[in-house]
Amino acid sequence: MTQNAFNQGNATPPLLTPTNGRARPDAALIDDWHVVAFSKDISEGQLTPTRLLGEELVIWRHEGKVHVWKDLCIHRGAQLSKGWVVEGTVVCPYHGWRYNCDAKCVLIPAQPQTKPPLKARAFPHRCEERYGMVWATLGNPSHDIPLFPEATDPRFECSMPAPILSTQTVSGRWKISLMPRTSPSCTLVLTA
Ligand code: FES
Repeated sequence: MTQNAFNQGNATPPLLTPTNGRARPDAALIDDWHVVAFSKDISEGQLTPTRLLGEELVIWRHEGKVHVWKDLCIHRGAQLSKGWVVEGTVVCPYHGWRYNCDAKCVLIPAQPQTKPPLKARAFPHRCEERYGMVWATLGNPSHDIPLFPEATDPRFECSMPAPILSTQTVSGRWKISLMPRTSPSCTLVLTA
């Protein structure tokens, strides 16, 4: 717990974690879409940690909608992924601040009668579900998630195995495979 952005009055800590000397990923990667999970693995009421381009993230779902946030509580820098979900809110494991689906803090247990300040927020990243996968970006892509019309075309077979190191060719059909790129995120490839 090294960050204390909230108490330092910094309402907007950098959305991307400082690299501490490591090279920042190419802007083209930051402003692109990446697969961060299979949809089937993101259940209601669970918090799933992952990492994308060196950035710690937490993925969760409420009423069907998936959310991808920076894995950081603005209060004292705890990892939200180590908390839990209560009534559609993510509860920080350290002091129990609760964040709703809009990433706003809606309860500070130490001051239950006080409305949390506006700067008490989590840090959401853009995300979408498509082709049975959760896609997220750390930046602001000007383009949409890659189009794979074959994914819903009954003439094609869409298979999404666990991350694999080789692809299989299905004669006369297409196959969508996931290949590791920046563990544990994956790259979607289409092979014939
Ligand atoms: S670190 Fe205090 S509520 Fe999250």
